[in-house]
Amino acid sequence: MSENTTRPAAPVKKQDGQMGSWAPLYDLLMFLMTFGKEKKLRQETIQLARIKPGDNVLEIGCGTGSLTLAAKEQAGPSGEVAGIDIAPEMVAKARQKAARYSADISFQEGGIAGIPFPDNRFDIVMCSFMIYHMPDEIRMKGFWEIFRVLKPGGHLFILDAALSEKQQQHRTGQIHDIRELPPVLKENHFTRIEMEKTGFGFLGTEFWFIRGKKAAV
Ligand SMILES: C[S@@+](CC[C@H](N)C(=O)[O-])C[C@H]1O[C@@H](n2cnc3c(N)ncnc32)[C@H](O)[C@@H]1O
Repeated sequence: MSENTTRPAAPVKKQDGQMGSWAPLYDLLMFLMTFGKEKKLRQETIQLARIKPGDNVLEIGCGTGSLTLAAKEQAGPSGEVAGIDIAPEMVAKARQKAARYSADISFQEGGIAGIPFPDNRFDIVMCSFMIYHMPDEIRMKGFWEIFRVLKPGGHLFILDAALSEKQQQHRTGQIHDIRELPPVLKENHFTRIEMEKTGFGFLGTEFWFIRGKKAAV
């Protein structure tokens, strides 16, 4: 992805939710949590996100870049794929991984509340296991920012956990459920919102996804 299409990244402040200290162990953790099936999980996620060859894709909160890499495989040489994360340690890991696989992906430091790309840039923006790793006000700014960087006709894809009945019974204010997001996306002008349970889960947790479109003008 050519650098002159990106905005200079605003200095990213340390904030709640950034997981830099997890970077060295994150891939091992994913391997263990998915019982060695992370690649399958990522490929299924890419299908659910509806990435096509030639799409321009941004992953926000890309971590070590495993899903971003799978997105690049699907988008192919004509698709421009980028990943941002608020934690510099995660960005460094993702860059190393992209170099190892000779994948042309732009990874940079950046937060959801100030996405370092111009308006109307991406066909698809993905947020996988990250949308609740931040204070509520940052997430709200984030939906505005995602809408800004999506092309008209493009869509947002979010993958995250839903609460089991038992978890709902013992719920505290801190626990979130992705199924609560559709009204929030509507308030932020997303249309054609679809939500479904995925076929995967781990440690007794269900995962659901949401797609929401930025209407074509
Ligand atoms: C659980 S990891 C998910 C990583 C990756 N998306 C995946 O599917 O494995 C959450 C990531 O979100 C990042 N993050 C947290 N708050 C963020 C924000 N405001 N903007 C961008 N990234 C953020 C963290 O640093 C961390 O790398």
